[in-house]
Amino acid sequence: MKILLLGSGGREPALAWKLAQSPKCETLYIAPGNAGTAQVGQNVSIKADDFETLADFVENEGVGMVVVGPEDPLVKGIVDYFSNHEKLRHVKVIGPSAEGAQLEGSKDFAKGFMKRHGIPTAAYETFDADHIDEAKHFLSTLKPPYVLKADGLCAGKGVIIVNTLEEAHKELEDMLGGMFGQASARVVIEEFMTGIECSVFAMTDGRHYCILPEAKDYKRIGEGDKGLNTGGMGSVSPVPFATPEWMKRVEDTIVRPTVEGLAEEGIDYKGFIFFGLINTPQGPKVIEYNCRMGDPETETVMLRLKTDLVELCEAVADGKLDKCGVEQDERAAVCVMCVSGGYPGAYAKGVEITAVPVMADGVVFHAGTAMADGRLVTAGGRVMACSAYGRDKAEALAAAMKGAETVAFEGKYFRRDIGADL
Ligand code: AMP
Ligand code: GLY
Repeated sequence: MKILLLGSGGREPALAWKLAQSPKCETLYIAPGNAGTAQVGQNVSIKADDFETLADFVENEGVGMVVVGPEDPLVKGIVDYFSNHEKLRHVKVIGPSAEGAQLEGSKDFAKGFMKRHGIPTAAYETFDADHIDEAKHFLSTLKPPYVLKADGLCAGKGVIIVNTLEEAHKELEDMLGGMFGQASARVVIEEFMTGIECSVFAMTDGRHYCILPEAKDYKRIGEGDKGLNTGGMGSVSPVPFATPEWMKRVEDTIVRPTVEGLAEEGIDYKGFIFFGLINTPQGPKVIEYNCRMGDPETETVMLRLKTDLVELCEAVADGKLDKCGVEQDERAAVCVMCVSGGYPGAYAKGVEITAVPVMADGVVFHAGTAMADGRLVTAGGRVMACSAYGRDKAEALAAAMKGAETVAFEGKYFRRDIGADL
């Protein structure tokens, strides 16, 4: 089968690496892809949200499956576009309908969904600019810190956590005043939860589901989880506190009720569900849903997924996920991300990358790289992920770091403590 993968981030080279290993994958195209995806498939210069051009390409090339990496095309309705297209209805598009993608596209929708289905999450209320006094009153009923979330997609920047009521009022006013444009026309205010976070991933065909290896990501730039948020500095899988008992609780109280809730509400969802969880003293609760895989979690999850990903995707599209099991690699995997100096602030692009490791027991996934005049150069803040296996996470971290040390470009930075807090 010919497969088209959409996206161009750090997650897509990992998905591409895994898809390309399948004997069922005849040709792998990636639109638009990056220098990393070009190593395992054929990049096609079409934007992931240019549905018309994508549809023409799929039709002309006889593509049988489209795997959607990022959330944007899903929220914009790519699944609906293909299923309403006379000639492309048969194409297996892996991802939820626009309605299903609202689990990520609207925080208010996600919170309402969880409330309707009794899925554990933080207490909350949603307000618009006409109800600012009610919003301030609600804030006064909560204990600090205060959590404010723009309802819509904000490229990962829409969550603000502050320590005082005064700051919360100011942020609330700014958000409702258009800080994130239409995305913050409504603001979800919620109770602050404490605990360690864990990312759990499932695939669903709308009725059945399977759970993939879990992972934990590291968002802050500095070691010890200090400093500014980034697109992700690394990840580890498995997560030690995600024992079989804990995962059973997650499945019973979160994963199954989510899949059943979607079916009950008649929402078409055939794709990945990412459960951003926090392990509170009362047990696992949902911080957020995403309708796609995580980045940089995918860079460890794919290493630990032994099952053929194309087979899983086919089962998702055909409603046969109950016939599939998921086999996990017993080994640990750690991903260490090499980033440009200055990131997540201003940083240089086009810096030559003079060395890329060949990892004995791991894979290098390019993220922000490009070819310029035959030279490999940096093209983003997060440049290259070194993912490695180990018998345990310490061994995997050591191997991933050895890779990260070998990567050579001016200004390179990486964290040495991925997974060390667990
Ligand atoms: P999000 O953009 O929704 O992933 O949120 C960004 C980060 O904010 C999460 O990964 C958490 O670390 C934190 N966060 C969001 N909501 C809460 C909450 N209710 N309590 C504590 N931390 C939160
Ligand atoms: N690693 C978090 C995310 O992909 O949103």
